[in-house]
Amino acid sequence: MNILEIIEKKRDKKELTKEEITYFVEGYTSDKIADYQAAALIMAIYLNGMTKQETTDLTIAMANSGEKLDLSTLNEIIVDKHSTGGVGDKVSLILLPLVASLDIPVAKMSGRGLGFTGGTVDKLESIPGYVTGIDMHNFIKNVEKIGISMISQTLNLAPADKKIYSLRDSISCVESIPLIASSIMSKKIASGAEKIVLDVTCGAGAFMHSKEQAEALAKEMIEIGKLANKETICVLTNMDEPLGYAVGNSLEVIEAVNFLKGDMPEDLKEVVLALGAYMIKLAGKGDNIEENKEKMLENIENGKGYEKFLQLVENQGGDISYIKNTSQFPKASYIEDVYSDTAGYIKNMNAKEVGKIVCNLGAGRIRKEDSIDNSVGIILNKKVSEKVEKNEVLATIYANSQETLNEAKEKIKEIIEIQKEAVPKPKMILEVMD
Ligand code: URA
Repeated sequence: MNILEIIEKKRDKKELTKEEITYFVEGYTSDKIADYQAAALIMAIYLNGMTKQETTDLTIAMANSGEKLDLSTLNEIIVDKHSTGGVGDKVSLILLPLVASLDIPVAKMSGRGLGFTGGTVDKLESIPGYVTGIDMHNFIKNVEKIGISMISQTLNLAPADKKIYSLRDSISCVESIPLIASSIMSKKIASGAEKIVLDVTCGAGAFMHSKEQAEALAKEMIEIGKLANKETICVLTNMDEPLGYAVGNSLEVIEAVNFLKGDMPEDLKEVVLALGAYMIKLAGKGDNIEENKEKMLENIENGKGYEKFLQLVENQGGDISYIKNTSQFPKASYIEDVYSDTAGYIKNMNAKEVGKIVCNLGAGRIRKEDSIDNSVGIILNKKVSEKVEKNEVLATIYANSQETLNEAKEKIKEIIEIQKEAVPKPKMILEVMD
């Protein structure tokens, strides 16, 4: 067997065998297969797709590419959560401390930004001192000690996914059902949780643009979950416009902190509560979804969710003075408002385009080794359906160069569509599948 034959087979739309998929995954993980060869195969998969069997084989091979975490010492049902990616998606930063504050242990391995979407790890690392790279022993010890740990993919769990994930990001091969399903499920299988809640985003700012595509991705992940004996629930959520108001790493951390202190943007609140309610259910701590949402709201009101976030940051070396006083986060050098030229209602705000502006400001990677700028981003002042007056602020741009500031100001005005007639509020929770 050799990699050229495998690339050729997929290029010619033929089905790969389990042995061929495993050969590729093992070879690429151990650097025996070069980046350019892996890139060719991934592009062929992106263009020609995979059968269900191939996707399952790819998932298992990636899950087996490194160590597997044993969470059984925690003696509790561990429920994991993962999102298929979005813009302004700071859900994990809010939801996981909130769930942990209800005495449900959280052991979470998150990803970095991918394509035009942000990543939880990049957001956490914008908190000075916060260490995302923790070894397995300390990861479990953290969960035992404070009930939560949130780390990056530094443990040797699904290392094949880590390599393929950043390769896909740098060759524009992200939006693919088999590649997303295998990426997410391989990590979930390797990271030891028994049950999984997946936020399958859908819309302009998601990798799945239509509900049908999102359903197909959800179905694939649920099936893989069944094969791996992991109960999986998918919540399909709307990602047409950015979630909440802030897009950009430290700006999103600040929005998450404010949320935990009770300042909750409506759309973000709906998504956090829905996902959390299913996590609580899977953890065996409450079957009633509405009651579960109330439990979370209670822990926002009494400050327990916020306290848990502080504990998480402190325990992972972060400087909690930034959380207690978020005005300490380093500020971008240029902060300027963008004003509306007309009055009306916000009709549309394409989240992917907003994500691309924020990447261009410096918050995203073009090459996989690029470093990112945590202080840049956009704070929206309006959401879809809201009324806007002429000369009212539409958004505030945070930039670190005059050039990127000017580009962003121009682009955001093109992206925010305004119409005279009223616009209904978008529905956030589109479907729940299990
Ligand atoms: N999140 C992942 O972990 N992998 C993907 O491919 C997309 C989103």
